[in-house]
Amino acid sequence: MEHACKQLALVITLIFPNAYAFPMGNEAASPGLNDTFADFDGSGRAYPVEWLPNATTFTYNGIKFNLPPFHNPSAYDAIRSDSQVITLQTNGARYHSFHALATSVWPVSGSAAARIGELVYEFDDGTSTSNDILVGPWWSNNPFDGPIHTPFHYANATLDGNKTVDHNITSISYISARIPNDKPLKSITLPANTSYINFFAISLVSGTPSGSVDSPRLSVRNVRSTTKWVDAKDASSEKIQQIEVTLANLSPLSAPTNSSWLTSTHSLYLTSSNDEIKTVIPGKVIRLRSNDQVVIPISIQNNHKVEAGTKVQVTVHLRSEKNSTAVLLETEGQEFEIIAGIPEWNNSDESLRTHEAPDWYEDAKFGIFVHWGVYSVPAWAPSGQQYAEWYNWQLHNPPNNGSPTWVHHLQTYGADIVYDDFIANFSASAWSPDDWTDLFADAGAKYFVFVTKHHDGFALFDTGNSSDRNSLLFGPKRDFLKELFASAKIRHPELHRGTYFSLPEWFNPAYAPYGFGSWPGGGALNAFNGSCCDPYIGYIPVDDYIEELQKPQIQTILHGYDTDILWCDIGGPTAFPQLAASWYNYAASQNRQVVMNNRCGANQSDFVTPEYATFPAALSQKWESSAGMDPFSYGYNSDTPPDAYQNASSIIMELIDIVSKGGNFLLDIGPKADGTVIPEETEPLRQVGQWLKVAGESIYSTRPWFIQPADTSENSTDVRFTTKPDAFYVIAISRPEGGTLRTTAPIPVTQNDRVELLGGSGRNLTWSMINGVFSVEVDEDDLDQVPLPAWAFKITYSTV
Ligand SMILES: *[C@@H]1O[C@H](CO)[C@@H](O)[C@H](O)[C@H]1NC(C)=O
Ligand SMILES: *[C@@H]1O[C@H](CO)[C@@H](O)[C@H](O)[C@H]1NC(C)=O
Ligand SMILES: *[C@@H]1O[C@H](CO)[C@@H](O)[C@H](O)[C@H]1NC(C)=O
Ligand SMILES: *[C@@H]1O[C@H](CO)[C@@H](O)[C@H](O)[C@H]1NC(C)=O
Ligand SMILES: *[C@@H]1O[C@H](CO)[C@@H](O)[C@H](O)[C@H]1NC(C)=O
Ligand SMILES: *[C@@H]1O[C@H](CO)[C@@H](O)[C@H](O)[C@H]1NC(C)=O
Ligand SMILES: *[C@@H]1O[C@H](CO)[C@@H](O)[C@H](O)[C@H]1NC(C)=O
Ligand SMILES: *[C@@H]1O[C@H](CO)[C@@H](O)[C@H](O)[C@H]1NC(C)=O
Ligand SMILES: *[C@@H]1O[C@H](CO)[C@@H](O)[C@H](O)[C@H]1NC(C)=O
Ligand SMILES: *[C@@H]1O[C@H](CO)[C@@H](O)[C@H](O)[C@H]1NC(C)=O
Ligand SMILES: *[C@@H]1O[C@H](CO)[C@@H](O)[C@H](O)[C@H]1NC(C)=O
Ligand SMILES: *[C@@H]1O[C@H](CO)[C@@H](O)[C@H](O)[C@H]1NC(C)=O
Repeated sequence: MEHACKQLALVITLIFPNAYAFPMGNEAASPGLNDTFADFDGSGRAYPVEWLPNATTFTYNGIKFNLPPFHNPSAYDAIRSDSQVITLQTNGARYHSFHALATSVWPVSGSAAARIGELVYEFDDGTSTSNDILVGPWWSNNPFDGPIHTPFHYANATLDGNKTVDHNITSISYISARIPNDKPLKSITLPANTSYINFFAISLVSGTPSGSVDSPRLSVRNVRSTTKWVDAKDASSEKIQQIEVTLANLSPLSAPTNSSWLTSTHSLYLTSSNDEIKTVIPGKVIRLRSNDQVVIPISIQNNHKVEAGTKVQVTVHLRSEKNSTAVLLETEGQEFEIIAGIPEWNNSDESLRTHEAPDWYEDAKFGIFVHWGVYSVPAWAPSGQQYAEWYNWQLHNPPNNGSPTWVHHLQTYGADIVYDDFIANFSASAWSPDDWTDLFADAGAKYFVFVTKHHDGFALFDTGNSSDRNSLLFGPKRDFLKELFASAKIRHPELHRGTYFSLPEWFNPAYAPYGFGSWPGGGALNAFNGSCCDPYIGYIPVDDYIEELQKPQIQTILHGYDTDILWCDIGGPTAFPQLAASWYNYAASQNRQVVMNNRCGANQSDFVTPEYATFPAALSQKWESSAGMDPFSYGYNSDTPPDAYQNASSIIMELIDIVSKGGNFLLDIGPKADGTVIPEETEPLRQVGQWLKVAGESIYSTRPWFIQPADTSENSTDVRFTTKPDAFYVIAISRPEGGTLRTTAPIPVTQNDRVELLGGSGRNLTWSMINGVFSVEVDEDDLDQVPLPAWAFKITYSTV
C-alpha cells in the first residue's frame, strides 16, 4: 500500500535533449575563449563549462533533474524555446506540476529582463490549457538568482567593449508551474521563440493515475531550511528557525470535494532520527484542495549541543487536530536534509547566499519610496520621457540643444548657473518628517525607502570623513535620514525603515577609475562652455572611491542608522559584499531581520527590482516593483500636469495584481524642495489607505495561489487571487456585473464556507459553485460602499 502511494509522487525527468530530436539545439557551455561551437545567446556568449555541474542529475527544491551533457564540448546542452512539442511517452498519465532549469537570454539589441513565455498543455481528450512562466535572465548587472551559477561568462568582444570575459554572476534559474491533473496529458508545447527562453532540464511531478479517490493524496514535495527566524521577545535566547514544507494534494482536480480535499485543521511536525531538533511551533494547514500546493512554515530549534548549521535528516508528520490521528502521506517516511539552526554569516558567497527576504518583508507588500534631494530644486524633465532626478546628467548629456534639460536650464537659469548652485535652494523650509511618516502610515504602507544619496552624490545623512557633500554641512544643514527615522520610530514603529543608496556618483572625481556607462565619474565639463569642471561641493579627495567613500558610507547606513532595507542602485563596483556578513550578524543580534536588493553589486540578492514595470506572472524569487506616482519620474517634476499622476484606483489595481504574483509594490513620491508633498500624491495615497483599511487583509501577509494568480477569461469577472492559511481571497478589479461575481477558476470553497465582501455591509453572501463556475451575489449598495473600484471577497474556510 505504502509503496503504491510512493509511486504516485514519482518525478518524471525528461532525458534532455537526446530523447527528442528538437530543432533549435543550443550549446551553452564553452570550454574556453577560442571555442567557436558554443553560442548560447546567438552572439557567441557562453557559460564557462568548468563551473557547471559535471553530473548526470541535479536536485533542487525537491525535484530531481537530468542534466544535459554540459561537459561534452560537441553536444548540444540546451534548447532554445521555439514552440517545440514535447510528446509524453507515458500514455494516460496525469501530472501535477512542471519544473525546469531554464534561463532567458538577452536579445541582441535588448536588455536583461525576466522573460514571459506560455506553456501549453494538450490533453488526451483534445482540450488544452496554458500557463505563463517567467524566467530570469542568465546574467545582468543586477542579478537574478538561480540554483546553478558561474562567476563569469564568455563575452562577445565586439558587443562588450572588447571584453572577452564578463565577471557578472551568471546563472541558471529554476521555474515551476502547476499542471491541471484531472486529465491524461498528451504533450506540452514550449514557449514561442520570442520569449528568448532556453531550457536545460525539465521534470514533471506525477499526478494520480485513474481510479477512485477516497482521500486526499498528500505529498511532501520539499522541506527547505531557511535562515529566517520567528520573532521572539528575547533576542538573546536561541533563535527559533523557520523550515518551509511544500505540501501538495495530488488528487485529481475534479475529484469529489468531500473526499479528496483536506478540509479540517491539521498540524505538521518534523522529527529527526537522532533527535537533533524539536518542533517548537507546528505548521498548520486547514484547507488543501486537489491539485493545489502550499508552503507551510514550521518552527524548530536544535536540541542541546547540536551546533547551528548541522545537516540533519528529518521526516514530516501530519496530524489531524480534531482527533490527533496521524494522516498517511504519499511520501510517508521519506527523509529530507535540512541545515538545522542558523549559523553566523561570513563573507563567503556560500554563506551570503543563504540570506533571504524575511517574512515581514514578504508580508508587507506595500512600501513608499521617497526621492528628494538637490534635483528637487530644478525639478524638471520632459514629463513622461525622462526622470527629473536625472537633471544633472541630462544637463550635460548631450551638452547642447539636443537635450531638453539643457534648453530648459539655459532658458530658466542661464548659462552661469551650475547644478551645485541648486544646493542653496534645497531649503526643506516646510519639511515635517512627522507629516511624511503619517502619510506613509495613512497610505497603508508597511515600509518606506528614503533616498539617502542619489547619483548626484549629495547625501542626506552624515557621511563623516568620507565626504562633506551632504545636507548637514550644505543647504539646509540637517540630518534628514536621522530625523525621518526618528519620527518613524516614535510615531509609527510598525513601519520598517529603509534606505536607497546609489553605489556610483556621476561626476565624483574619484569614481573615474571605476566609471562605466552613464556613471563615468570624473568632473563634469561645463555644459555651456566646455570648461573643466563644474564644482563638486564638499568633495574630499580620496585615493579609492570604493574603500574610502562608498564603503564607510554604506557602513554608516547599516550600523549608524540601523536601516532594515538596503536598497542599492546601479550595482557595479561595490564594497557591500565585505560588509554584508557583519551587517546580517549585527542585525540578528538585535533580533532584526534585514533585507537587500539585487543592485548592490553583489553575487546574491534578497529580491529583484523591476523598475516602472511589473511581472506578468509569478517568479521563483521575491520581487518588488517600483514606480513613481509621476508617469515617468521618481523625483518631483514640475513639467508634469496635475492630472497625469497615478490615481488611487490605478494604484490599488496595480498593487493587487503585483501581490497576486508574489511581488511587493514600492510606490514613489517626489516631494518638492521645501519638503511638501503635492496633493496629487497625498490624496490618492490616503484613498489607497482607506481601501487597505477595510480590505487590506486580502493583501498583507498573503501568499500567491499555486493554481493560478488571476482569472481574466471571457465571461469571468476580472479577478486576482491571494491566500492565507485560513482564508482565500478573490479580488475583483472590474465591477461584478449585475451584482454577480463569476469565475471559472477552481476556487477551493466548500459547502459551509462563509463569503463576505471586505468593506461591504459585512453580511454573509449567497454563493454557488455550479459546473465549475463560482458565483457570488452581492448588492450594488455593498459594492458602492467600498472606497475604490476593487472588491475583495473573503472566503473563510469552515472547519466543520
Ligand atoms: C585564443 O586564440 C588566440 C589567437 O589564436 C591566442 O592568442 C590565445 O592565446 C587563445 N586563447 C586561449 C585562451 O586559448
Ligand atoms: C559578436 O557580435 C557581433 C556583432 O553582433 C557579431 O557580428 C559576431 O558574429 C559575434 N561573435 C560571435 C562569436 O558570435
Ligand atoms: C566529468 O565526469 C566524467 C564522468 O565521471 C569524467 O570522465 C570527466 O573527466 C569529468 N569532467 C570534468 C571536466 O571534470
Ligand atoms: C575596442 O578596441 C578597438 C581596437 O583596439 C578600439 O578601436 C575600440 O575603441 C575599443 N572599444 C572599446 C569600447 O573599448
Ligand atoms: C557587468 O555588466 C555590465 C553591463 O551590464 C558591464 O558594464 C560590467 O563591466 C560587467 N561587470 C563585470 C565585473 O564584468
Ligand atoms: C521566430 O520564429 C519565426 C518563425 O517561426 C521566425 O521568423 C523568427 O525569425 C524567429 N525569431 C527568432 C528571434 O528566432
Ligand atoms: C460526497 O458527496 C457526494 C455527493 O454529494 C455523496 O454522494 C457522497 O456520499 C459524499 N461522500 C462522503 C465521503 O461524504
Ligand atoms: C480523524 O479526523 C480526520 C479528519 O477529520 C478524519 O479523516 C479521520 O477519519 C478521523 N479519524 C478517526 C480515527 O476518527
Ligand atoms: C562560512 O559559512 C559557510 C556556510 O555557513 C560555512 O560552510 C563555512 O565553513 C564558513 N566559513 C568560515 C571561514 O567560517
Ligand atoms: C534660488 O531661489 C531664489 C529665490 O527664490 C531664486 O531667485 C533663484 O533663481 C534660485 N536659484 C536657483 C539656482 O535655484
Ligand atoms: C461567454 O458567454 C457567451 C454568452 O453566454 C457564450 O456565447 C460564450 O461561449 C462564453 N464564452 C466562454 C469562454 O465561455
Ligand atoms: C455567516 O456564515 C457563517 C458560516 O457559514 C455562520 O457561522 C454565521 O452564523 C453566518 N452569519 C450570519 C449573520 O448569518
